[in-house]
Amino acid sequence: MRVLVTGGAGYIGSVAVALLRRDGYDVTVLDDLSTGHRDSLPADVRFVEGSVLNSAIIADALTDCEAVMHFAAKSLVPESVAKPELYHDVNVNGSKNLLAQMKLAGVNRLVFSSTAATYGEPEVIPITEISQTNPTSPYGATKLEVDHAITEAAKRDGLAAISLRYFNVVGGIKLDRGWISERHTPETHLIPNLLRSTSANPIKIFGNDWPTKDGTCIRDYIHVVDLIEAHIAALKAAKTGSHEIINLGSGSGYSILEVIAATSAALGTELPYEMTARRAGDPAVLVADISKARTLLGWQPTRDLAQMVNDTYEAAQG
Ligand SMILES: NC(=O)c1ccc[n+]([C@@H]2O[C@H](COP(=O)([O-])OP(=O)(O)OC[C@H]3O[C@@H](n4cnc5c(N)ncnc54)[C@H](O)[C@@H]3O)[C@@H](O)[C@H]2O)c1
Repeated sequence: MRVLVTGGAGYIGSVAVALLRRDGYDVTVLDDLSTGHRDSLPADVRFVEGSVLNSAIIADALTDCEAVMHFAAKSLVPESVAKPELYHDVNVNGSKNLLAQMKLAGVNRLVFSSTAATYGEPEVIPITEISQTNPTSPYGATKLEVDHAITEAAKRDGLAAISLRYFNVVGGIKLDRGWISERHTPETHLIPNLLRSTSANPIKIFGNDWPTKDGTCIRDYIHVVDLIEAHIAALKAAKTGSHEIINLGSGSGYSILEVIAATSAALGTELPYEMTARRAGDPAVLVADISKARTLLGWQPTRDLAQMVNDTYEAAQG
């Protein structure tokens, strides 16, 4: 089976490409390289450089494909606040273009990168798939709009679709040709930034007076290889005329201070940090209920925080 991976030159998409190839799938990648890297891709995939905003390019990329993993998106929360039109265009219009071209090409199977940001500030922890959706950023709102469009396409056109709502994705994978890990600019994620923390430029912690065990925020982290193994399971589990929404996390949370301790242990040195005031809009705790992923996908995350940190560190060493 040939799978179209949109955004396959990005962090998560390129790990998907590697694991799909490992499992014997043929792969086509569609990516405009706006935040992705051509050198993240192996030589044995078909690469189509272009945007999901261009219907003719999507149609070309879908040639011989039977399924799509749709990662291509803009995904920085602060940038989405500054440029909401860009986010609506790429994330919503780009995804609707893709759905339209899939219908024309008779490609009926879709796995979509949704996000925990669709939920906003949770009323109940852990967050289940029926928790209220009240995104606090344009980014989260665009992903929620795409989830709704996919639900419609499943009802209307018989699409077999699964949206996976990721919590915080971390780690990398070591291939024969080297590590694939996060290469975002700017990097907004905690663990890669922690590895760069210095006494002259320490990482900032936003508040130590939250109602949590050590006063710092608690977040749910998932290793990128566990995440992609769930995507491959979702590709097989999607059913015609149905759109399932499934959370992907580890199902347990770590406080910011626990992540700093784990990263310090991996480095063998105490990492510097600066305690600052709370940041507006940060929920105290974000943890996923992953029982639906366990049941519907027969999936279980197996890589712990130490491995997430170690892999990120190893990848940063090159
Ligand atoms: N990293 C996380 O923790 C996280 C959490 C939740 C959801 N997600 C979602 O996962 C997906 C992948 O995230 P990532 O961290 O790998 O980001 P990334 O920026 O590394 O990857 C996105 C890829 O999409 C490509 N792209 C962007 N706009 C495009 C367009 N118009 N046409 C074609 N390609 C385009 C980029 O060049 C890049 O290769 C995104 O949809 C993101 O919203 C990520």
